[in-house]
Amino acid sequence: MNIDILLGLQWGDEGKGKIVDAISPDYDIIARFQGGPNAGHSLEFNNVKHVLHLIPSGIFHPEKMNIIGNGVVIDPAVFKNEIDGLGPTVEELSKRLIISTRANLILPSHRILDAAYESKKGLSKIGSTLKGIGPAYTDKTSRNGMRVGDVLRKDFREIYKKHLEMHLEILKSYDFKFDLSEYEKGWFEGIEMVKNFPIVNTEYLVNKELNNGKKILAEGAQGTMLDVDFGSYPFVTSSNTISAGACTGLGISPKQIGEIFGIFKAYCTRVGSGPFPTELFDNTGALLRDIGKEFGSTTGRPRRCGWIDLPALKYSIMINGITQLFMTKADVMSGFKTIRICTSYKVDGKECHEIPYGIDSVIEPVYTDLPGWNENISGIREYNKLPESLRNYVEFIEKNTGVPVTMVSVGPDREETIFRK
Ligand code: GDP
Ligand code: IMO
Ligand code: MG
Repeated sequence: MNIDILLGLQWGDEGKGKIVDAISPDYDIIARFQGGPNAGHSLEFNNVKHVLHLIPSGIFHPEKMNIIGNGVVIDPAVFKNEIDGLGPTVEELSKRLIISTRANLILPSHRILDAAYESKKGLSKIGSTLKGIGPAYTDKTSRNGMRVGDVLRKDFREIYKKHLEMHLEILKSYDFKFDLSEYEKGWFEGIEMVKNFPIVNTEYLVNKELNNGKKILAEGAQGTMLDVDFGSYPFVTSSNTISAGACTGLGISPKQIGEIFGIFKAYCTRVGSGPFPTELFDNTGALLRDIGKEFGSTTGRPRRCGWIDLPALKYSIMINGITQLFMTKADVMSGFKTIRICTSYKVDGKECHEIPYGIDSVIEPVYTDLPGWNENISGIREYNKLPESLRNYVEFIEKNTGVPVTMVSVGPDREETIFRK
């Protein structure tokens, strides 16, 4: 059996949580493979909205297994808060959530380092979520990390102290005030919470279950344009958010990948700093933010909004090998007289269809305009009943990318989803 992957094609917040939750009934296992508590995945059912940061979005389906894979970085304090707020008891949740021994830990001092680095950057800051992601992945790659498997060791506290001392040494060269004690307390409580869950070599589990014919869905975090290699570096996150990241983040072979679902908003948003060619600074941008409730699920920051960017979408499709496209938030654009689609760029005055390497290039979007639609579409459940202009928009994207749009989301609720036959 193959493993399918669902991941974001833009700058994150495409609606991954909602769709993973909506398609979880088709799978046996839902697994996160990268990122950490910088993610905020929202899903809604029975008029209640849930936001998940570390826990896979299949968790509300009691019969499904959820895995936090080795590629994820875990902050135990955030993990505990999330578990405490979910509803079911720890005992119940521990039957449907498994954590990889190899997942790296975010230490309280990683958060401080994140803040110190950002503050030093001044105006050129990344706009990090300040959850300690960059410093935790840095320690992993420089072979200085602590891993979830370490929490079972008797000398865990001593190992922790050594790592903390190393971080305090680095912080001496930054003029940055901090107080670790409060967060540290919650962090150690979090470590005790982590111990309630099965901590296993999930690479064996995942491969065994695939061989047993089980269906697995890998849930991406962030988006392709935030990938550490292929995003708008340095304004990116610190992990591989692309489909290849599912192999390294779960321990599976590329041979085992089946469908690769690429999810995108009918427009674009970005939180934090960095290039955003189609960004709107006018009233239309403000309208998208207001109607789309575009405020960060993790930090509450207003999201920058703009028109859809086809060169960026095609780039993401290429890097990931997307087999099906899922479009979300089409409902947010109801009432817009004209919908603009960026079909190419003018870079330093020349027409261009590729994402430039440098972030300093002056990128001017070249637009094609299509008529908008007026109807409230949230109650529609069949693709053919959607307004013609919306279908034309969808089909324009399909024609230009060469990939079918097999799902259109028309609202935040799990039911507000149209699968195209
Ligand atoms: P994720 O990080 O990709 O899981 O996305 P977020 O949860 O951070 O942001 C997406 C936001 O849009 C959340 O508030 C969702 O509840 C909401 N959402 C998802 N799909 C739709 C949709 O089709 N229409 C509308 N109006 N909201 C949606
Ligand atoms: P989900 O999974 C949107 C952005 C931050 C910042 C940059 C680096 O909900 O789509 P980091 O904390 O990783 O050092 O921040 O990446 N960012 C996200 N933007 N959605 C996310 O996750 C994000 N995770 C990180 O705003 O610009
Ligand atoms: Mg999000």
